[in-house]
Amino acid sequence: MEIVHTISDLQTKLNALRQNNKSVGLVPTMGALHEGHLSLIKRCRTDNDVAVVSVFVNPTQFNNPNDLATYPRDLDADAALVNAEGVDLLFAPSPEDIYSNEEINHRFEFDFQGLDKVMEGKQRPGHFNGVVQIVSKLFQLTNPTRAYFGEKDFQQIAVIRLMVKTLGFNLDIIACPIIREASGLAKSSRNQLLSDDQKVLASNIFKVLKESLNFASKMSPLNLSQWVTENINAHKGLEVEYFEIVNADTLQTISDWNDASSVVGCVTVHCGNVRLIDNIKYKG
Ligand code: PAF
Repeated sequence: MEIVHTISDLQTKLNALRQNNKSVGLVPTMGALHEGHLSLIKRCRTDNDVAVVSVFVNPTQFNNPNDLATYPRDLDADAALVNAEGVDLLFAPSPEDIYSNEEINHRFEFDFQGLDKVMEGKQRPGHFNGVVQIVSKLFQLTNPTRAYFGEKDFQQIAVIRLMVKTLGFNLDIIACPIIREASGLAKSSRNQLLSDDQKVLASNIFKVLKESLNFASKMSPLNLSQWVTENINAHKGLEVEYFEIVNADTLQTISDWNDASSVVGCVTVHCGNVRLIDNIKYKG
């Protein structure tokens, strides 16, 4: 596996690898790789002739400087994991390699058609502008046949699909299922920031989500939202930021189960200083 840091090295190596119309798969990541990422990488390796992984903690998608400063980083460990999966190219640029001063200091403009006004977008203004900025740049630089994203970031996938359509990228977005700890806790780079006790505590998020499936036919979406919020908050040390039951395509809250053919419940919970997200499919 080759590790490249600059755009020109990336393009030289990639041009050599993609000769004879070979398919290229891209897994964009922010590093601190875990089994969730590895499942995306394995799928990418299976589907494509050439597999590229990017590791870049994208500063423009963080709206909280402390969150950016404490985001876990370990390129050597990431490179060893990616190499073991048989990936061809690891792209690990620095912010200066990727962005001009102008790009880093001005919010990337994009019409999200409302997708940025709910849930993560509402709580983290500008977050999805940064995501679209970096993902569109990575797509331009690597021109992949397919790109892989985890369903834990459910809203992010919807935003990226819209971006692909709006900007006219010719590639497939492949959404891969959430990978969980044995306890049910969704795998996340941020789990590294949890103590052992907090990991046990945080496993209650999925326990409550899973239990809520039993009530989906008996309660209205609004009542079920309240039930989930109360039952997660009942665990001292967990605090729900939002739980919303939404149309999986538009991400708008539903008031009746018949409002959408595909319905998902999305949650963000604070466990100490760590912000954890998860979701569960109710329908579709
Ligand atoms: O999901 C992530 O890790 C990031 O948002 C992504 C897609 C790599 C863009 O920085």
